[in-house]
Amino acid sequence: MAAEPSVVEVTLESDLKNVEVADELSRRVTTRAGFDEEDRQRIEMAVHESLINAIWHGNKNDASKRVWLKYEIFDDRLEVRVRDQGNGFDPTNIPNPLAEENLLNISGRGIFLIRSFMDDFRVEKLAGGGTEVTMIKRYVSKSKST
Ligand SMILES: Nc1ncnc2c1ncn2[C@@H]1O[C@H](COP(=O)(O)OP(=O)(O)OP(=O)(O)O)[C@@H](O)[C@H]1O
Ligand SMILES: [Mg+2]
Repeated sequence: MAAEPSVVEVTLESDLKNVEVADELSRRVTTRAGFDEEDRQRIEMAVHESLINAIWHGNKNDASKRVWLKYEIFDDRLEVRVRDQGNGFDPTNIPNPLAEENLLNISGRGIFLIRSFMDDFRVEKLAGGGTEVTMIKRYVSKSKST
């Protein structure tokens, strides 16, 4: 039977200053999980982008709203969840930053980065309200063609 995951969980106020707290936590968790430097940086960047999205797009910078960040270290993978109190979004409906008409845009790259840095990415609207983004990184990452 697989061992229970090791869990690190925090609740953060919707303040962009807390993104630094998440960065530090990501570094510690990914080091403890045993990822190499390149993967540590990728995971940290993916969590960083997701946190900004949760605070900015999800909670609309409303300091009374919270963001929940959870890391679960399994034998074969790390799962990271970022939950906000917003109305969610459809990740299949996001403009492609590599399309010619978007190349000069200064925003719209966060989800693209997350998708390329992590092995799995999904978005769920929660029954009780709010949105949860799940990102998974396996210890032996498959090389991606996209
Ligand atoms: N947690 C969220 N809640 C609601 N909408 C979101 C959330 N995360 C992303 N989105 C939507 O998806 C779009 C794409 O997100 P993405 O992070 O790729 O780009 P961006 O945040 O607009 O710009 P950038 O991340 O490059 O600064 C956002 O503009 C927003 O409309
Ligand atoms: Mg973003």
